[in-house]
Amino acid sequence: MKIVMGSDHAGFDLKNHLAEHLRSQGHEVIDVGAHSTESVDYPTYGAKAARTVASGEADRAILVCGTGQGIGMAANKVPGVRCAIVSDPYSAKLSREHNDANALAIGARVVGAGVAEDIIDIWTTTEFLGGRHGRRVSMLAELDSIEPGE
Ligand code: RB5
Repeated sequence: MKIVMGSDHAGFDLKNHLAEHLRSQGHEVIDVGAHSTESVDYPTYGAKAARTVASGEADRAILVCGTGQGIGMAANKVPGVRCAIVSDPYSAKLSREHNDANALAIGARVVGAGVAEDIIDIWTTTEFLGGRHGRRVSMLAELDSIEPGE
């Protein structure tokens, strides 16, 4: 798969670690930054990575900040992106099977490198189940174009 990765300063080291892990499995990784541990703003990198998925340039996004929360929220602002903020392998699996998550956010201050590897291994190998879940995911897509107050 072609996987775009983004982080802020807090997620920089784990992003790099996971990028190597993914490359060693044969995935192609696009790294949109951050490129150091100098303080930066997570919305910049969450949005950059999410737009890369929304445009079709990448299949999936994996994002890392301190908690996964901020960068995941940023990604979910981009229409077409369904970002799961995950700190356990079970949620990673279900975010693929039920929600067809095309982006994953992890907190570098929440999970260690070993758990993060397990999370992305499950997330990159689990298929969407479709069926009734497909209807619900289509409903999520409809929300992308709803104006406030509708
Ligand atoms: C940065 O200190 C921190 O706020 C950020 O990495 C993230 O945890 C935000 O959600």
